[in-house]
Amino acid sequence: MVGEIVRGSSALTPVVTVDRNSSQPLHLQVYRSLRNAIAIGVLRPGQRVPSSRAMSTELNVSRITILEAYEQLLAEGYFKSRKGAGTFVSGSLPEYLSQVRRPSNGRSQGASGPRPVAKRALQFPTEPATAWRGGLGAFAVHQPAFEEFPYAIWSRLVTHHSKDPSARAIHCIDPLGSRRFREAICEYLRTARAVQCEPEQVMIVSGSQQALQIAANVLLDPGDAVWMEEPGYRLARNVFAAAGSRLIPVPVDDEGLNVEAGIARSAQARAAYVTPSHQYPLGSAMSAGRRLQLLNWAQRYGAWIIEDDYDSEYRFESAPISSLQGLDNNARVIYIGTFSKVLFASLRLGYMVIPPDLVERFIAVRYAIDIFPPYLFQEVIADFMRQGHFARHIRRMRQLYSQRRKVLVEQLREAFGGAFQLRGAEAGMHLTVTLPPDFDDVAIAGKAAEHGLWLWPLSGSYVTKEVRTGFILGYGNVAAQAIPGAVEKMRAVISSV
Ligand SMILES: Cc1ncc(COP(=O)(O)O)c(C=O)c1O
Repeated sequence: MVGEIVRGSSALTPVVTVDRNSSQPLHLQVYRSLRNAIAIGVLRPGQRVPSSRAMSTELNVSRITILEAYEQLLAEGYFKSRKGAGTFVSGSLPEYLSQVRRPSNGRSQGASGPRPVAKRALQFPTEPATAWRGGLGAFAVHQPAFEEFPYAIWSRLVTHHSKDPSARAIHCIDPLGSRRFREAICEYLRTARAVQCEPEQVMIVSGSQQALQIAANVLLDPGDAVWMEEPGYRLARNVFAAAGSRLIPVPVDDEGLNVEAGIARSAQARAAYVTPSHQYPLGSAMSAGRRLQLLNWAQRYGAWIIEDDYDSEYRFESAPISSLQGLDNNARVIYIGTFSKVLFASLRLGYMVIPPDLVERFIAVRYAIDIFPPYLFQEVIADFMRQGHFARHIRRMRQLYSQRRKVLVEQLREAFGGAFQLRGAEAGMHLTVTLPPDFDDVAIAGKAAEHGLWLWPLSGSYVTKEVRTGFILGYGNVAAQAIPGAVEKMRAVISSV
């Protein structure tokens, strides 16, 4: 055929073309196409290339032609072949390639012309890329003891739910999530957290973060006032800020959110966001008196309470504190829980218990977001809970964290004496130390990160100017034996800054 250009299918050879009318031999055309694809970064180091057989079928040329081209690329170091694994673009390409510029007529994307972005999008605060977020171990916040996770049981359940094509994980489509999973969660919440719930009120979400986003969509109009704990959880604050809410910082003390202060600042607020079991980040438990005050305020003014019960499973010196939702007789609380702390955060699974009359609205909003999170891990955790592994894991982790916490508290007292105030060590997987006001917690955290020590500055949890400095120290993912060394490192960094 005259002038016929053969282009590989997008699955295999999108970048290789051969022209049968050209005077250039076919193997040379294939060789040059591939080399060019590497040079302009379409094929990247380490990327697998199609087998010679697959490529010859795609281009409708003989296998010998392809083998000749591949051999040349192998000989020149563009390709590497691994026995039994196939052929790959070399991980260490000839040096000059890194300097090759894309051709001026190439398809690199340039940003030009008017590029309007919605005002709404600008309300989403950008999360700063800070040095102390990156690491694993002492004293990264929000990390459970990864090495203690029951991987053997977990992988058995994942395999079970992955291999049966008739399993629910494959074909269920309920926007509230897996029914079995919601039943297991209800059973757990009724007994362990005194939450009033039925499976019809439970919505599975991809983490508390999504629960907050859905709740904000259902409950808040732009300009509505929302009480936020001060200091508080920044990622929750971001959601309400993005929804156009007016954030009302309400101080917290040893009894949790100061409801009277909230009423004085904005009695007519539409909602309050609270972490009553273990205030984030200072760690207090909301007193019974404050709980009743908060519920009374909400009922009187027709406001909603968003209860974030993120790590209530771990309380060390007394029985877990019952939920605020369990005390509420007027269905004013949206209760949020997560598997990020008890299992691991990259699962992105949590749940919400919704007042029955609001369920339909929550579902309507949900349909416009992601309909529901993948079923596979919902079914896996349902079995993990029903077979008793979940309760056993929590019991084991409670003991482990209790021990880690004890060592950390002792070491901090020894290293810093009265200079640091310790807070919130009774529960959870982190505690907070507050520093004298002249300490710059952000500068210290930056320096500590250079030494592989992750200190989360407390000052970032405030919105007002009345900032306390200090650190939120996670001890979930640091072995007890490693704690003294880490505290010593922290002492050295603080004295050096
Ligand atoms: C106050 C608070 N709520 C919720 C979470 C969990 O969020 P998610 O379920 O989105 O991982 C965290 C941190 O992990 C937290 O500190």
